[in-house]
Amino acid sequence: MTMENYKLFLFTLSSACVVGILAIIFVLRWVLHFQPGLGWDGGLAEFNWHPVLNVCGFIILQALAIIVYRLPWSWKRSKLTMKIIHASLNLVAYIFAVVATVAVFDYHNLSKIPNMYSLHSWIGMVTLILYCLQLVLGFGLYLMPSTPISWRAAFMPIHVYSGLLLFTSVIAVALMGITEKLIFSLTNPKYNSSPPEAIFVNILGLFLVVFGALILWIATRQSWKRPSEQTLHSLNSKGGDEDGTRVSTVLSQLSDGTEGEAVGETRKRNNKLDDRVN
Ligand code: HEM
Repeated sequence: MTMENYKLFLFTLSSACVVGILAIIFVLRWVLHFQPGLGWDGGLAEFNWHPVLNVCGFIILQALAIIVYRLPWSWKRSKLTMKIIHASLNLVAYIFAVVATVAVFDYHNLSKIPNMYSLHSWIGMVTLILYCLQLVLGFGLYLMPSTPISWRAAFMPIHVYSGLLLFTSVIAVALMGITEKLIFSLTNPKYNSSPPEAIFVNILGLFLVVFGALILWIATRQSWKRPSEQTLHSLNSKGGDEDGTRVSTVLSQLSDGTEGEAVGETRKRNNKLDDRVN
């Protein structure tokens, strides 16, 4: 990774942070300013937890879980620590999504509104079920010490693919939900006359799309991957330092974004292997 790439990484990451924070501010302002606020009373205030928890938890926390291995300042931490952080963030994101779903079911039941009739609710429910499966499989495969390495390697491409697919689907589900809610709640003036709430919440949808695009970009750059354990090990043996100072130096260079070319090449070779066994 060259300095230039590192700057691009920082720029992409900072942009994602700014857009993510704006999405949180917008969803909160939507429910607190344009809608009747937050509460747990079986009414609209309870429904409002649904978009808030889905945006802040299911989308933002899930994104953080996805890119946590890419943060260079986390590379000094052991792989196990990072796996625990990744799993915990995903678990918390899932808990937020479950509470968000309980809120909307509760609201529907008390207000005698039918459940699970819309495309939004169908795909939303599918993402919730598959996300749970992804969590259970991820835990069993990558956090249970007894799982054979060959199984971990075989399932890694599926784990990565389904994680990114779920993240993309959750953003699509949120966009459907936003549109649906605006059509339901804007009656006078109607959605098609573009009142301030409609414009404001459309912008929230745009933020979610841009946020998702930035996170997917960060997650799919090969050169921004965490260096493999083998790379660090081979650097250590090549350097021949008994106390491992060369590895520490290289690691601090990696966190500074000043990784030399030799390191980059070794990383590229070994990342392939790392992909198969992590
Ligand atoms: C991002 C992840 C999201 C997931 C997984 C999700 C999932 C669901 C599910 C499963 C239901 C069905 C509840 C029931 O039938 O009682 C539902 C309902 C609903 N959601 Fe979402 N939702 C998400 C985001 C949003 C967002 C951001 C909004 C924006 C306000 C929203 C608006 C609605 C509305 C209006 C309903 C009631 C109408 C319907 O059932 O389609 N959702 N959602």
